Amino acid sequence: MKVLVVGKGGRENALAWKINQSSLVNKVYVAPGNPGTEKFCENVNIEDDDIESLVLFAKKEGIDLTIVGPETSLALGIVDIFEENGLKIFGPRKEVARLESSKDFAKKIMKKYNIPTGSYKTFYNLKEAKSYVEEKGAPIVIKEDGLKAGKGVTVAMEKEEAFEALDIAFSIPNNKVVIEEYLDGFEFSLIALAHEDKIIPLEVGQDHKRVFDGDKGPNTGGMGVYSPVKRVTKKIIEDSVEKIIRPTLKGLQQEGLPFTGFIFAGIMDTEEGVKTIEFNVRFGDPEAEAILPRMESDLVQLILNILEEKETLVEWSKETTCGVVLASNGYPASSTKNSEINIPENLNSIVFHMGTKEIDGKIYTNGGRVLIVVGKGENLKEAKENAYNDVKKIKCDKLFYREDIGNKDLI
Ligand code: AMP
Ligand code: GLY
Repeated sequence: MKVLVVGKGGRENALAWKINQSSLVNKVYVAPGNPGTEKFCENVNIEDDDIESLVLFAKKEGIDLTIVGPETSLALGIVDIFEENGLKIFGPRKEVARLESSKDFAKKIMKKYNIPTGSYKTFYNLKEAKSYVEEKGAPIVIKEDGLKAGKGVTVAMEKEEAFEALDIAFSIPNNKVVIEEYLDGFEFSLIALAHEDKIIPLEVGQDHKRVFDGDKGPNTGGMGVYSPVKRVTKKIIEDSVEKIIRPTLKGLQQEGLPFTGFIFAGIMDTEEGVKTIEFNVRFGDPEAEAILPRMESDLVQLILNILEEKETLVEWSKETTCGVVLASNGYPASSTKNSEINIPENLNSIVFHMGTKEIDGKIYTNGGRVLIVVGKGENLKEAKENAYNDVKKIKCDKLFYREDIGNKDLI
């Protein structure tokens, strides 16, 4: 098979790396890819939002299967357009992708189909939103409606913080804001391959959303990750599949919006059981970078199985992975570009590129999250030590990282 991966971040680097190991695959293309995917795949110079050119390329090359990384391509309707052109693609259609691209839509589905989640209300103007916060008090969560790369959410511990977030959100014309009950508990990410109401759940990962150690500072796209997550027992995973993922897929089916692709649930294990924080309609980033290196099954075979409605088991390595993100100074508010990075060749960890570029054989920073270093070990402690040992060998004076990835499960 010839497989095309759409996207250019760390998630796509990990997907392409894993797909490249499949015995079913002769060639992997990544559009546009990055210097990390360049090493073992063919990068195609087409941006992930240029759907027309991607279709032309897939037809010309005879691509057998396209796998979409980013939510932005899905929200643009890449799946609808590929399917109209008779091309096989793994991802949800545009209407279905609203499960991620509209918090309001996701909440409506959850409410209608009794999926456990926090209570909420949607607002279209500042005055009413503020009086709701006044009435409910803090902690409370403010979420802008559209796609925000993980940055449109404010978990406000004080009312004033919520007011500030609302002022900013409503300074954008026609903005829509979901205000949600604060959920207390242990957060984890569950990703499954899905088609209609069939599911192949993967092992879970634990993302680190806040920018600084101790979960301080603003939310980011994710600063580190480990897998598996000891505290998330088999029972919690089963509950998450049966109470959250399966009824959501069934609900979407009933709405005439059948899901295909990776479904990602951000879940809080609370005193009252599992509750949904959010849905994404694609693999997580950085979850993919920690979960895929532990997968022993052939990912392409799993995708073919689910498309044929076969719920097969996934084989996993017993090892733990721990991924540490190196981000540009200033992230998530801003990022510096064009700083040279020196990455030694002989690291034990896997290095996936998230936001880099290559000029004359040298690697430079080119975005907020730049690299992720994924260490492996017999347990989390070992995986973490291995990751940080290698992080320290990477030289660049414009990068920073959290020092405490994995600590939540070590205490
Ligand atoms: P989201 O983009 O909806 O995943 O939100 C980003 C992050 O904010 C989540 O990963 C959580 O850590 C946090 N968060 C979102 N919603 C809630 C909530 N209702 N209660 C507590 N924390 C939340
Ligand atoms: N790691 C969370 C996300 O991919 O949105």
